[in-house]
Amino acid sequence: MENSIFDRYWKSISRASSYKYFPLIVKKIEGSRIVDVNGKEYIDFLSSAALYNAGLNNDEVVTSLLEELKNMLHYTQYLYHEKSIKLAEILKEITPGTFEKKVAFELSGGAAVDIALRSSLYFSGKKLLGSFENSYHGTTYLSISVSGSFRPEIREKLNAYPYVYFFKYPDTFRRPRGIEPEEYGEILLGEIERTLQVDAYGKGFAAIIFEPIQGDGGVLVPPKSFIVGLRKIADEYGIVLIDDEIQTGFGRTGKMFAIEHFGIEPDIIVLGKSLGSGMPISAVIGRREILDSPEPMTYMSTYSPHYLSCIAAMAGIEYIIKNRLHDRAELMGEYLMKRLNELKDGHEIVGDVRGKGLMIGVEIVDDKDSLKPSSKKAQKIIWRAYENGLIMMTFGKYGNVLRIAPPLTIEREEIDKAVEIMEKAISDVEKGKVGDEVLSKMVAWQ
Ligand SMILES: Cc1ncc(COP(=O)(O)O)c(C=O)c1O
Repeated sequence: MENSIFDRYWKSISRASSYKYFPLIVKKIEGSRIVDVNGKEYIDFLSSAALYNAGLNNDEVVTSLLEELKNMLHYTQYLYHEKSIKLAEILKEITPGTFEKKVAFELSGGAAVDIALRSSLYFSGKKLLGSFENSYHGTTYLSISVSGSFRPEIREKLNAYPYVYFFKYPDTFRRPRGIEPEEYGEILLGEIERTLQVDAYGKGFAAIIFEPIQGDGGVLVPPKSFIVGLRKIADEYGIVLIDDEIQTGFGRTGKMFAIEHFGIEPDIIVLGKSLGSGMPISAVIGRREILDSPEPMTYMSTYSPHYLSCIAAMAGIEYIIKNRLHDRAELMGEYLMKRLNELKDGHEIVGDVRGKGLMIGVEIVDDKDSLKPSSKKAQKIIWRAYENGLIMMTFGKYGNVLRIAPPLTIEREEIDKAVEIMEKAISDVEKGKVGDEVLSKMVAWQ
């Protein structure tokens, strides 16, 4: 019966829209747990890709939806609904930036990134976009065009927007020997400035888009001076600075928005994922003059902002603020990092543990001497963890980073249980107890 579901999936659904890690058919989700169709329970270290910061299927979000279902599912934006206005007001209030703001909504992160970039192009009249190697911003036309994690030949075949320049993002773990992280950040900022000083470029950049902590690149936390320096460069050259908080937003890193760790104000902030607590909605919050510059209809979409998604977003945001989940992320993150660092001390293949709050990456290597990235070992670890009841995935520029992003509501005992499962999985892989055959069972991040 279960096999036929997998066969049916691959027969009917495009492989280009798929990444499948485990043959797990979800029946129910709650808190920090996933239950499969056989009744087996898993601890969720993934939160459906950092989507459920307020907990899987948060009760208050579900209740608020049930109350509204009978009134309206959605009605397109030719008429008004008060909820989207209220949500926009809340987003303007809670996001950094002391200037006058406007908000635009979409359904997915990528579509919101597209709006941020389109409005910057329109506003500035310039052509070039700056982004970073190994970044991920989505798969719509402009968002895939600025996503450095797609190989250049893929972007070329897709006829992606050609005027994109990819800068280096600081990977402080793999920085050149003998250079301190802050110094490394300065060197990379220097490279960006040199590119901008070339007239044709310096005058032509409409926007630079960045992740305040690079997520899919492998949880890379940049030195503070790097992000501060980006703001300075953008000011100097009149470039719109776009902060993609789709993965880092809503308390995950220990602050409501990750940019607060760096103390700068971006011109535009892009939100998605946990904004909707399980319902599809994304938002662009930015300087009024930039977001208002294109003609009416330039960002329009029939289903956006979806009425029920606005309801879910408001209930989720209220829950996060009321329960100070950003503080909880900081506290639980410190505890989890401590436990993971113990794993690192005890295991040759755990090369690095890094992150902020409950956005954590664990880099798997062949051994501590060579620090050679091992995506195979990382994939074997997540497979064995899955067998033993823990859901994690791999990502990173070498595909060797364990992605750890549990709901911010996770309990300490669940963390302890998960770390126990991770330790067993790492030991099994070190002892050669997980065979190569498991690799062909996953379609994993490469
Ligand atoms: C930083 C970042 N930006 C954009 C996106 C794209 O969001 P979506 O998948 O909702 O289009 C993602 C998704 O993983 C992301 O992590």
